Amino acid sequence: MAHLLETEGKRLTDGFPEDFLWGAAVSAKQAEGADGRGLSVADLQDFNPDDKTKVKGDLTMAQIRDRLDHPERYSFPKKLGIEFYHRYAEDIELLSGLGIKCFRFSVSWSRIFPNGDDAEPSEQGLAYYESLLDCLEEYDIEPIVTLYHDDMPVNLAVSFNGFLSEHVRSAFLRYAKVVMRRLAGRVRYWIPVNQINLTRVGLSSLGIVRDTVEDLDAKKLQGVHHKFVLCAKVAQIGRKIDPQNRFGAMLADFLLNPLTCKPEDVIMATRKNQMTMYFYADVQLRGRYPGYALHYFKENGMDVEVERGELELIANNAMDFLAVSYYNSNVVSAEKNTMAIGDSIINPYLEKNPWGWTVNPTGLLDGMLRYWDRYQVPIMIAENGFGQVEELGSDGTVHDDYRISYLRAHITAIREAVQSGVEMFAYCLWSPIDMVSSGTSEMRKRYGLIYNDQDDYGNGSHRRYPKDSYYWYRDVVASNGKNL
Ligand code: BG6
Repeated sequence: MAHLLETEGKRLTDGFPEDFLWGAAVSAKQAEGADGRGLSVADLQDFNPDDKTKVKGDLTMAQIRDRLDHPERYSFPKKLGIEFYHRYAEDIELLSGLGIKCFRFSVSWSRIFPNGDDAEPSEQGLAYYESLLDCLEEYDIEPIVTLYHDDMPVNLAVSFNGFLSEHVRSAFLRYAKVVMRRLAGRVRYWIPVNQINLTRVGLSSLGIVRDTVEDLDAKKLQGVHHKFVLCAKVAQIGRKIDPQNRFGAMLADFLLNPLTCKPEDVIMATRKNQMTMYFYADVQLRGRYPGYALHYFKENGMDVEVERGELELIANNAMDFLAVSYYNSNVVSAEKNTMAIGDSIINPYLEKNPWGWTVNPTGLLDGMLRYWDRYQVPIMIAENGFGQVEELGSDGTVHDDYRISYLRAHITAIREAVQSGVEMFAYCLWSPIDMVSSGTSEMRKRYGLIYNDQDDYGNGSHRRYPKDSYYWYRDVVASNGKNL
């Protein structure tokens, strides 16, 4: 007779795997700036201190025209970004001081094809990403590349309505192929699209100009289907280019808990988690539209046009890993909420940042356990971080103990997931340097381990100053997660 913990128990690990990829993540639209590339829809998301909701990306055609014809009337922080396009070498050098093992960035479509569908790719754009890879290789940092981080080239949104158009979908595949060929053998981890479950009927994710399209709700589901097909094709092409390539399905974690243990709230949470979270990963990782989704579409009069061979393509080209961005978690009530993603209630037991984003490390652990139970594929945390209003102190730094506690608690949660048998292989915190906010285009929502001296209007010295969290994370990485 033997004891289970003496035999099977050997599988248990004490902490993070030796080859765990500690890292950090940025996106082109928030970091690079628009120099040397065509405009993307993200560049048109202006900063408006009086109405931050306007920058969410759902501009009308008239609003787009006005921004293109009269740029002087607006402030466009994403056009400046944090000048990462020019400053990448010194920024990566600073990040290498953290000892990080991986760096997630996105390639900007309009840097490779300025209008999205030009006859030839931009040599300058491709050379830029090669230089960025040179730099990462110099410090032994593994790149993780997102091909579409919600930055549709303006031309493709305005003239073709984004991913709804066959022309745009082929242009995306051509762009993806050009990038994967050029960077072949140098990038192993690819995320074809950022946060597929946040696909919205708007400019940023589908590249749709709202007031030019009828029957938007139906278009959204069709757009999601197009993205599933594109991701499968990217994986198919990418695996031919290099069989070592690995592709990730990416979710923004919005797993909900019921507000109360009332059966109605419980089933609402289950149903909503199915349709706003699992549906996307089920299709991309299991290769099939799940039954609960088909039932939901039938009940709600929704349907998707499917071309011949598309379902087989999805089935035969499932993603290899799951990438998750995790910031906060909310609860849901059958009485108060609808099925729409984002329609939820703040958990009253949790603290929040100034933007109302709750802090719930246990939610991260809970999510990892649930995903692993369901998918059994390696999991990467593609984003996790804490946004706060901060000022540079007279001592030339920021004492961001709140960020350290946030990150410590979340990394502890990941360690617990690993100890419970979840296969986690990377952690990319958001963000290494303060960047322009995706949602509100402001600079004052700072996530960085490094302070960037730049305000909402792009003023400042743009100098980088490591915060306390920089030195703390350096120690976490050096100790492989032991010193938290
Ligand atoms: C994620 C996005 O959803 O949220 C990032 O992938 C974004 O691009 C992050 O920056 C945080 O959102 P925000 O609006 O605070 O920048």
